[in-house]
Amino acid sequence: MTLTERLGEYVRACFTGIWIESHEQQDALVALAQLCQQEDWRLATWNIEQGLRVAGAEIDGSGSDPLAAIRSVNALAAPDGTAILVLQNFHRFLQSAEIVQAISQQVIAGKQNRTIVVVLAPVVQLPVELEKLFVVLEHELPDRDQLTEIARGIATEPSELPEGPDLDRVLDAAAGLTRMEAENAFSLSLVRQGRITPDAVWELKTQALKQTGSLELHRSQADFSSLGGLSALKSFCKRALLQPRRGQRSPRPRGVLLLSPPGCGKSAFCKALGNEVGRPVLILDVGSLLGSLVGQSEERTRQALRVMDAMAPCVVMIDEVEKAFAGANGSGDSGVSSRMFGAFLSWLNDHTSDVFVVCTANDVSRLPPEFGRSERFDALFFLDLPDRSEKESIWTIYLEEYAIDRDQRRPTDTDWTGAEIKACCRLAALLDVPLVQAAQNVVPVAVTAAESVDRLRTWASGRCLSAQQPGLYQRTASSKARRRVTRDPSSN
Ligand SMILES: Nc1ncnc2c1ncn2[C@@H]1O[C@H](COP(=O)(O)OP(=O)(O)O)[C@@H](O)[C@H]1O
Ligand SMILES: [Mg+2]
Repeated sequence: MTLTERLGEYVRACFTGIWIESHEQQDALVALAQLCQQEDWRLATWNIEQGLRVAGAEIDGSGSDPLAAIRSVNALAAPDGTAILVLQNFHRFLQSAEIVQAISQQVIAGKQNRTIVVVLAPVVQLPVELEKLFVVLEHELPDRDQLTEIARGIATEPSELPEGPDLDRVLDAAAGLTRMEAENAFSLSLVRQGRITPDAVWELKTQALKQTGSLELHRSQADFSSLGGLSALKSFCKRALLQPRRGQRSPRPRGVLLLSPPGCGKSAFCKALGNEVGRPVLILDVGSLLGSLVGQSEERTRQALRVMDAMAPCVVMIDEVEKAFAGANGSGDSGVSSRMFGAFLSWLNDHTSDVFVVCTANDVSRLPPEFGRSERFDALFFLDLPDRSEKESIWTIYLEEYAIDRDQRRPTDTDWTGAEIKACCRLAALLDVPLVQAAQNVVPVAVTAAESVDRLRTWASGRCLSAQQPGLYQRTASSKARRRVTRDPSSN
């Protein structure tokens, strides 16, 4: 349902306090004005700069006094009609006890003469006194039809607007933008390329997402061929995401949790997944959701979740969740991060949008237990240190990438991760030294963090799927395999 439809329902049902959360107030105002005209409701707006306006005309002497504005609504009341007063950015004035009192009285009295107070603001910040008196509506981001409409409005020649699958790509790129951002993106594209193309839109979206501060769009060329091994994980995700859905009832993939010692390719996997399945990859920075003002964190969380939903189908990566939600057990910050975490978890459970979430973690002891339960995800995967043949394919990738002679003697790579093989190749190329020499500068995680690797393996055993081979990860089998690797003559 659109904002107008929902608003229409609430007004007809005589909800006299309505809070509209919108980042595009002009647009929301236009929608409101149309609704009022259609329904023959009286509309007045107030903001600090322009004072009170009825039907677009300023009311003399109405001024910038917010209290006077609230009281003025009664003058608008029509004997047998409905009157709506829109207070723009009124969250700014709700620190005053007088104003809160005036609003709460008005909202109650409004039931008698059908006068309705609508607060239009970019955030939802209701003081406790008003919580029960207001319903909150979200001004949703534009959907594909609305975006098409906007694109039609911007393109003046038919040749400027793509059609069919090309239009779909433009709409994919524009999903998640506000109306104004979409307009800007389409215009920029027209100026640059003479027609609306996905590229310019993607570029603007990347910037727009950066401004939200918590979501970043990852763009790269890497796909699964840039990752050695991990074959079970690769095929699981591809299958889950590329399988055609059979009807409404067939489940949507939700996501996976990846667990491994650092450097085993969790982050790299997630970034490559997008290209592999043709979805954009959004990186959610949970830390930046935390705001210093009351209500800010919740607000940012909701906004981020909304953008994620609007960008569907997409892949969302939450890297190192155990750090991201470190404060989630409610210590220290008056429960803000635990509320954020709660909001996030319920979204993870309930979202119906086609968003595939990949969470990564290096440390189970700090992982909130809610994540360890597999029903939130389609699967939990453990990425163990790569085995012999996986290491071979990783060596192959990086020897080629850094143009290193393939026949060169290899250093001993017992217990190395992909990151360490890469580092060794990179150093060898950078310093122009043999691999064996470069290897002296490589300190494997499995050595520096032996204990936590051990803990991870124990935890994952019997609980996680193996990223390397089909089926459950079993600790014993893998350690036996490791012992074999150590004796493998080709590894030294
Ligand atoms: N299996 C692998 N194949 C190719 N590169 C790998 C592999 N594992 C790790 N790497 C490389 O090592 C570096 C660190 O990996 P990363 O994905 O950040 O690890 P993690 O997120 O598990 O700590 C990246 O540049 C990545 O490309
Ligand atoms: Mg990582």
